[in-house]
Amino acid sequence: MNGSRAVITVEALSKSRTGVPVLANICLTVAEGSVTVVVGSSGSGKSTLLRCLNGLETFDFGAVAIAGHRLSAGPHAPQLLEHVRRDVGMLFQQFNLFPHLSVIENVVLAPRVVLRLTAEESRARGLALLDRVGLRAFAEARPATLSGGQQQRVAIARALAIQPRVVLFDEPTSALDPAMSADVLDVIVDLAGSGQTMVVVTHDHDFARKAAAWVVQIDAGKIVRQGLVDEIFQPT
Ligand SMILES: Nc1ncnc2c1ncn2[C@@H]1O[C@H](COP(=O)(O)OP(=O)(O)O)[C@@H](O)[C@H]1O
Ligand SMILES: [Mg+2]
Repeated sequence: MNGSRAVITVEALSKSRTGVPVLANICLTVAEGSVTVVVGSSGSGKSTLLRCLNGLETFDFGAVAIAGHRLSAGPHAPQLLEHVRRDVGMLFQQFNLFPHLSVIENVVLAPRVVLRLTAEESRARGLALLDRVGLRAFAEARPATLSGGQQQRVAIARALAIQPRVVLFDEPTSALDPAMSADVLDVIVDLAGSGQTMVVVTHDHDFARKAAAWVVQIDAGKIVRQGLVDEIFQPT
């Protein structure tokens, strides 16, 4: 935290699945314009935490304030979730592009529906975003003709299309080979430099360093350490 406004505040969040604790007393603050990297071994609860932040999963205790919305323990009202989706973008390991739509159609779908932009407005926005991820030339292509790394960059453009206040990335490069990962991480580093608030689950230390991230380490559902990237990842 560097004193700027908080976009996410998690207060004492706990969650169990079938009686087994998955997240325990998570307290976390994400400052506007900052990059937070979440690390931890497989099964430690990283994805569950991200999914609790945008209401994809419910939790049992505590509260989440995100982009001006407040999620409480228990079920979330559908209308609240709609509002959260409008302000919070999410990216998964699998890109989940619509195969029957072109690249540009994938990118502009959400702004067309959610923000009710005209076809012209949303196309202009979509092309600018494809430019930003280096894929403008592929606007009319089908996703299947692109590499995995290119598809993930389209997914990033799609997530940005609603101009979210915060974007959550869940291991965005873990399904990609190293060369493709590098291209995707460069795009995310570029985003970080532009002041986009992000929470990124990744094991990539270089990315964390380049993005000057605040690192949160989770183990067995608990935050065991957090601090600036250089404090948490000692040089090797
Ligand atoms: N849909 C699910 N149903 C039941 N248990 C799950 C489900 N998803 C995850 N879990 C369990 O919750 C725990 C945390 O998982 P997860 O948040 O996916 O961890 P991570 O992303 O750090 O690998 C693990 O013990 C996992 O097995
Ligand atoms: Mg996970």
